[in-house]
Amino acid sequence: MRTQLSFAPLAGIETELLAVLAADTQTAKGREAKAAPVLMTADPAVQAAAAALLASGEFKAGANETLLLHAPAGLTAKRLLLVGLGKQAKVTVDSVRSAAGTAVRFTKPRGIRELVFALLEFASNVTETAPGGTVPEALSAARSARAAVEGAFVGDFDPDTYRSERKDQSVESFTVVVPATAEKAALEAAFVEAAIIGESQNFARSLVNEPGNKLTPTILGERAARMAAEVGLGCEVYSTEKLHELKMGAFWSVSQGSAEPPALIVLRYEPEGAARDDGRPVLGLVGKGITFDSGGISLKPGADMDKMKYDMAGGAAMLGAMRAIALLKPRVRVLAVVCAAENMPDGKAQKPGDVQTAMPFAADKPGKTIEIINTDAEGRLVLADGLTYARQLGATHLIDAATLTGACVVALGMVNAGAFANDDAIWAKFDAALATSGEKFWRLPLGEEYAEQIKSEIGDIKNTGGRWGGAITAAEFLRVFVEETPWIHLDIAGLAWVEDAKPYIAKGPSGVAVRSILEWVRSYAE
Ligand code: BES
Ligand code: MN
Ligand code: ZN
Repeated sequence: MRTQLSFAPLAGIETELLAVLAADTQTAKGREAKAAPVLMTADPAVQAAAAALLASGEFKAGANETLLLHAPAGLTAKRLLLVGLGKQAKVTVDSVRSAAGTAVRFTKPRGIRELVFALLEFASNVTETAPGGTVPEALSAARSARAAVEGAFVGDFDPDTYRSERKDQSVESFTVVVPATAEKAALEAAFVEAAIIGESQNFARSLVNEPGNKLTPTILGERAARMAAEVGLGCEVYSTEKLHELKMGAFWSVSQGSAEPPALIVLRYEPEGAARDDGRPVLGLVGKGITFDSGGISLKPGADMDKMKYDMAGGAAMLGAMRAIALLKPRVRVLAVVCAAENMPDGKAQKPGDVQTAMPFAADKPGKTIEIINTDAEGRLVLADGLTYARQLGATHLIDAATLTGACVVALGMVNAGAFANDDAIWAKFDAALATSGEKFWRLPLGEEYAEQIKSEIGDIKNTGGRWGGAITAAEFLRVFVEETPWIHLDIAGLAWVEDAKPYIAKGPSGVAVRSILEWVRSYAE
């Protein structure tokens, strides 16, 4: 998808489809006389073209509601699409992001390959939220243009690469029209960034979408290496031998039952001119890359097992974030470790009751021993060694992402992903990043009492903590391996795959966490 900025007046724009935003001004429900929705543009020609439609009451401007008008009078555009933002008082940059996605997804199946999207404009006749026509900072042209472009990329993705007749194809050209009064420098920078971010999120989604037979750990390693070469990241991809050399007994235990060898993927980003060991933070991104999770000997039930091809979404999120980091070049060192393996039952597979020894942090110290209760709790095993390795490579701050537990989905549904932190300062940075990314994570607690649940009589810890608080005991398991390093854990099991298509996003891989991890990383830049 090509993206471009335009400052032209809307009425004269030649295009197949011009999308404009509208908001619902209705306040106290039912009591007052029904007020028509307002168009979020001051252009008199567009106002006139839509006036009858808005007055008709057919279009309520609910969030992501759409209505198409052919041959709009007084406009050069062939079609005018109204996209609802929902209640005017509640409009945020996230409403703009999804409205742009909705516009793209409206356009795609109609065989229209180009789209012009008018950014919301704050003229005094348009909105009460901005008296006198001043633009609220949270909805500045730069911020809303960024959201629109991100949303357009999100909307443009469909998981149909393996269909002989691809259904909707891509929207080839997306133009954002900005009021001529907008501040140009910040706007242009945000616009360029947004395309990088949108493409990186879609890169992650394209990996998550691949089935287990097309994306083995080895192939994931190749994809990571190819991306790294394209954007100029350092990259090493290791396999079985390196796992043994590093004594990654936890990671290997997951892989040992599969005919597919594991891949230990390491990516490095160094800002220009950064001296090594200068005492500045080194951010370590660690991702779960289970290319298929059958459960192993603790085999999963058949229903929905096909979904477990997306069990590498945490790893893909890290690869997507690293791609964006390489292109946006924040002044902070970042390394990523993705632990890719296939969890399979086999004569060579690990068994419940086995004891594994995790990677030691220092070569002269012993690794922690893990009693395997359930071979389906494999994500924490690969992450244990991944986190230790990231620390050994010099990470001073850690973040991991994983489709780790069904329990997290039970707790938070498919609305919020789970987040954990062992340190309030690192959490504050992540929380601030969420305001920019627009992604929903909810912080869940950690605590000694939960850690009790994973104590083992046989080894140092066991890999499951019983029925209750399963997302938390999984996080406590990981905490054992980060020790005192400031760390954030993201459990994205409920959000990595969109189960019900929405107007702005297809059913399928979501690319969740890419944007938040990226913003968190950028918050450390000098
Ligand atoms: N990959 C699954 C978690 C998962 C479940 C991801 C649903 C996405 C959707 C993970 O490896 C797993 O199997 N976890 C077990 C842990 C249990 C055995 C302690 C679970 O959640 O049931
Ligand atoms: Mn599992
Ligand atoms: Zn899993």
